[in-house]
Amino acid sequence: MNVSLCFENDKSVLDVGCGLGSTVDTYGVPDHVAIYGIDVNAEVIEQAKLLYKDRPNRFFLVCPAEDLRHFESNKFDKVISGVTLMYIKIPKVVREVYRVLVPGGTFSASYETWKDVTKFMLRALTKLQIKVVIHRLYILMNGILFYLTGYIVPYLNGTIESFQSRRGLRITLGRAGFENIRFDGNRVFADKKSSSKFD
Ligand SMILES: C[S@@+](CC[C@H](N)C(=O)[O-])C[C@H]1O[C@@H](n2cnc3c(N)ncnc32)[C@H](O)[C@@H]1O
Repeated sequence: MNVSLCFENDKSVLDVGCGLGSTVDTYGVPDHVAIYGIDVNAEVIEQAKLLYKDRPNRFFLVCPAEDLRHFESNKFDKVISGVTLMYIKIPKVVREVYRVLVPGGTFSASYETWKDVTKFMLRALTKLQIKVVIHRLYILMNGILFYLTGYIVPYLNGTIESFQSRRGLRITLGRAGFENIRFDGNRVFADKKSSSKFD
Protein backbone atom coordinates (compact mmCIF):
# COMPACT_ATOMS: atom_id res chain seq x y z
CA MET A 1 0.00 0.00 0.00
CA ASN A 2 1.28 3.47 -0.84
CA VAL A 3 0.39 5.87 1.96
CA SER A 4 1.45 9.49 2.17
CA LEU A 5 0.40 12.34 4.40
CA CYS A 6 -0.75 15.77 3.28
CA PHE A 7 0.23 18.59 5.65
CA GLU A 8 -0.95 21.53 3.50
CA ASN A 9 -3.97 22.42 5.69
CA ASP A 10 -2.25 21.64 8.98
CA LYS A 11 -1.56 24.20 11.70
CA SER A 12 0.64 22.14 14.02
CA VAL A 13 2.55 18.86 14.05
CA LEU A 14 4.28 17.06 16.91
CA ASP A 15 7.53 15.14 16.28
CA VAL A 16 8.05 12.51 19.01
CA GLY A 17 11.69 11.61 19.73
CA CYS A 18 12.72 14.40 17.37
CA GLY A 19 16.50 14.16 17.87
CA LEU A 20 17.94 16.87 15.63
CA GLY A 21 14.61 17.30 13.87
CA SER A 22 15.17 15.57 10.53
CA THR A 23 11.99 13.42 10.63
CA VAL A 24 10.04 16.51 9.64
CA ASP A 25 11.93 16.58 6.32
CA THR A 26 11.48 12.84 5.80
CA TYR A 27 7.73 13.36 6.01
CA GLY A 28 7.86 16.56 3.94
CA VAL A 29 6.17 18.84 6.47
CA PRO A 30 5.94 22.29 4.83
CA ASP A 31 7.38 25.46 6.37
CA HIS A 32 4.08 27.14 7.28
CA VAL A 33 3.24 24.42 9.83
CA ALA A 34 4.19 24.98 13.50
CA ILE A 35 6.38 22.01 14.42
CA TYR A 36 6.91 20.93 18.01
CA GLY A 37 9.80 18.51 18.56
CA ILE A 38 10.08 16.62 21.85
CA ASP A 39 12.89 14.40 23.09
CA VAL A 40 14.11 13.08 26.47
CA ASN A 41 17.69 13.98 25.62
CA ALA A 42 18.32 17.56 26.76
CA GLU A 43 21.57 17.77 24.77
CA VAL A 44 19.97 17.02 21.40
CA ILE A 45 17.16 19.46 22.18
CA GLU A 46 19.74 22.21 22.78
CA GLN A 47 21.48 21.32 19.51
CA ALA A 48 18.19 21.28 17.62
CA LYS A 49 17.30 24.72 19.03
CA LEU A 50 20.60 26.06 17.71
CA LEU A 51 20.19 24.34 14.35
CA TYR A 52 16.74 25.87 13.81
CA LYS A 53 17.27 29.21 15.59
CA ASP A 54 16.22 31.10 12.45
CA ARG A 55 12.97 29.15 12.09
CA PRO A 56 10.35 30.80 14.33
CA ASN A 57 7.83 28.00 13.76
CA ARG A 58 10.09 25.23 15.10
CA PHE A 59 9.76 24.59 18.84
CA PHE A 60 11.84 22.09 20.83
CA LEU A 61 11.14 20.77 24.28
CA VAL A 62 12.67 18.22 26.65
CA CYS A 63 9.74 15.92 27.30
CA PRO A 64 9.22 12.16 27.57
CA ALA A 65 6.97 10.70 24.89
CA GLU A 66 5.08 8.85 27.64
CA ASP A 67 3.90 12.07 29.31
CA LEU A 68 2.76 14.86 26.98
CA ARG A 69 1.23 16.97 29.77
CA HIS A 70 2.84 20.09 28.26
CA PHE A 71 0.29 19.86 25.46
CA GLU A 72 -3.45 20.28 25.67
CA SER A 73 -5.81 17.65 24.27
CA ASN A 74 -6.93 17.88 20.63
CA LYS A 75 -4.00 20.15 19.63
CA PHE A 76 -2.02 18.55 16.78
CA ASP A 77 -3.18 17.82 13.24
CA LYS A 78 -0.52 15.14 12.94
CA VAL A 79 1.95 13.39 15.20
CA ILE A 80 5.02 11.88 13.54
CA SER A 81 7.93 9.88 14.88
CA GLY A 82 11.11 8.55 13.23
CA VAL A 83 13.27 5.68 14.54
CA THR A 84 11.95 6.10 18.09
CA LEU A 85 9.11 3.57 18.62
CA MET A 86 11.64 0.89 19.58
CA TYR A 87 12.85 2.92 22.58
CA ILE A 88 9.57 3.97 24.14
CA LYS A 89 6.69 2.50 26.16
CA ILE A 90 4.49 2.20 23.08
CA PRO A 91 1.10 1.53 24.77
CA LYS A 92 1.48 4.58 27.05
CA VAL A 93 2.81 6.80 24.26
CA VAL A 94 0.05 5.98 21.78
CA ARG A 95 -2.58 6.80 24.45
CA GLU A 96 -0.95 10.20 24.94
CA VAL A 97 -0.60 10.71 21.17
CA TYR A 98 -4.30 9.91 20.76
CA ARG A 99 -5.16 12.51 23.38
CA VAL A 100 -3.14 15.35 21.80
CA LEU A 101 -4.29 14.69 18.21
CA VAL A 102 -7.27 16.63 16.87
CA PRO A 103 -10.28 14.40 16.11
CA GLY A 104 -9.56 12.86 12.71
CA GLY A 105 -5.83 13.65 13.08
CA THR A 106 -3.18 11.14 12.01
CA PHE A 107 -0.28 9.47 13.80
CA SER A 108 2.58 8.04 11.76
CA ALA A 109 5.83 6.42 12.88
CA SER A 110 8.61 4.30 11.46
CA TYR A 111 9.24 1.01 13.22
CA GLU A 112 11.93 -1.66 13.61
CA THR A 113 11.30 -5.24 12.49
CA TRP A 114 12.62 -8.55 13.85
CA LYS A 115 14.96 -8.69 10.85
CA ASP A 116 16.79 -5.53 12.00
CA VAL A 117 17.23 -6.93 15.52
CA THR A 118 18.33 -10.38 14.35
CA LYS A 119 20.91 -8.89 11.98
CA PHE A 120 22.56 -6.98 14.88
CA MET A 121 22.33 -10.01 17.17
CA LEU A 122 24.07 -12.32 14.69
CA ARG A 123 26.81 -9.73 14.20
CA ALA A 124 27.33 -9.54 17.99
CA LEU A 125 27.27 -13.35 18.20
CA THR A 126 30.09 -13.72 15.67
CA LYS A 127 32.14 -11.21 17.73
CA LEU A 128 31.24 -13.07 20.97
CA GLN A 129 29.78 -9.87 22.48
CA ILE A 130 27.73 -11.79 25.05
CA LYS A 131 26.17 -8.77 26.79
CA VAL A 132 25.01 -7.40 23.44
CA VAL A 133 23.61 -10.80 22.46
CA ILE A 134 21.65 -11.03 25.76
CA HIS A 135 20.25 -7.52 25.23
CA ARG A 136 19.28 -8.39 21.66
CA LEU A 137 17.57 -11.56 22.94
CA TYR A 138 15.57 -9.36 25.33
CA ILE A 139 14.57 -7.13 22.39
CA LEU A 140 13.49 -10.19 20.39
CA MET A 141 11.44 -11.59 23.31
CA ASN A 142 9.91 -8.16 23.90
CA GLY A 143 8.98 -7.95 20.22
CA ILE A 144 7.33 -11.36 20.42
CA LEU A 145 5.42 -10.25 23.54
CA PHE A 146 4.38 -7.12 21.64
CA TYR A 147 3.25 -9.28 18.70
CA LEU A 148 1.11 -11.44 20.98
CA THR A 149 -0.30 -8.84 23.39
CA GLY A 150 0.51 -5.30 22.22
CA TYR A 151 2.44 -4.80 25.49
CA ILE A 152 6.18 -4.59 26.22
CA VAL A 153 8.33 -4.85 29.35
CA PRO A 154 11.49 -2.98 30.45
CA TYR A 155 14.99 -4.50 30.50
CA LEU A 156 16.78 -5.28 33.80
CA ASN A 157 18.22 -1.74 33.92
CA GLY A 158 14.79 -0.14 33.36
CA THR A 159 15.34 0.86 29.71
CA ILE A 160 12.90 -0.16 26.99
CA GLU A 161 13.61 -1.65 23.60
CA SER A 162 11.52 -3.80 21.29
CA PHE A 163 10.89 -4.59 17.66
CA GLN A 164 7.42 -3.97 16.29
CA SER A 165 5.16 -6.13 14.18
CA ARG A 166 2.09 -5.03 12.23
CA ARG A 167 -0.07 -7.26 14.43
CA GLY A 168 1.32 -5.76 17.67
CA LEU A 169 0.91 -2.22 16.35
CA ARG A 170 -2.69 -2.96 15.30
CA ILE A 171 -3.47 -4.27 18.80
CA THR A 172 -1.90 -1.42 20.75
CA LEU A 173 -3.13 1.37 18.44
CA GLY A 174 -6.63 -0.14 18.32
CA ARG A 175 -6.65 -0.37 22.11
CA ALA A 176 -5.82 3.34 22.33
CA GLY A 177 -8.80 4.13 20.09
CA PHE A 178 -7.12 4.58 16.70
CA GLU A 179 -8.84 3.46 13.53
CA ASN A 180 -7.87 3.02 9.88
CA ILE A 181 -4.50 1.52 10.87
CA ARG A 182 -2.39 1.04 7.73
CA PHE A 183 1.20 0.37 6.74
CA ASP A 184 3.62 1.49 4.06
CA GLY A 185 7.10 -0.04 4.12
CA ASN A 186 8.40 0.40 7.66
CA ARG A 187 5.87 3.12 8.53
CA VAL A 188 2.56 2.80 10.34
CA PHE A 189 -0.32 5.27 9.97
CA ALA A 190 -3.41 5.50 12.18
CA ASP A 191 -6.24 8.00 12.58
CA LYS A 192 -7.93 9.34 15.69
CA LYS A 193 -11.69 8.91 15.42
CA SER A 194 -13.38 12.05 14.04
CA SER A 195 -15.93 11.99 16.83
CA SER A 196 -13.31 11.63 19.59
CA LYS A 197 -13.05 14.42 22.12
CA PHE A 198 -10.79 14.73 25.16
CA ASP A 199 -11.91 17.68 27.26
C1 LIG B 1 17.35 7.10 16.78
S1 LIG B 1 16.92 8.65 17.42
C2 LIG B 1 15.86 9.31 16.16
C3 LIG B 1 15.90 10.80 16.08
C4 LIG B 1 15.08 11.42 14.94
N1 LIG B 1 13.68 11.14 15.07
C5 LIG B 1 15.59 10.96 13.60
O1 LIG B 1 14.92 10.18 12.91
O2 LIG B 1 16.71 11.37 13.25
C6 LIG B 1 15.77 8.26 18.72
C7 LIG B 1 15.44 9.45 19.58
O3 LIG B 1 14.42 9.09 20.50
C8 LIG B 1 14.70 9.75 21.72
N2 LIG B 1 13.98 9.05 22.80
C9 LIG B 1 14.24 7.83 23.33
N3 LIG B 1 13.35 7.53 24.30
C10 LIG B 1 12.49 8.58 24.37
C11 LIG B 1 11.35 8.88 25.19
N4 LIG B 1 10.92 8.02 26.10
N5 LIG B 1 10.71 10.06 25.00
C12 LIG B 1 11.15 10.94 24.04
N6 LIG B 1 12.22 10.72 23.26
C13 LIG B 1 12.88 9.55 23.41
C14 LIG B 1 16.20 9.68 21.85
O4 LIG B 1 16.71 10.61 22.75
C15 LIG B 1 16.62 9.93 20.40
O5 LIG B 1 16.86 11.30 20.15
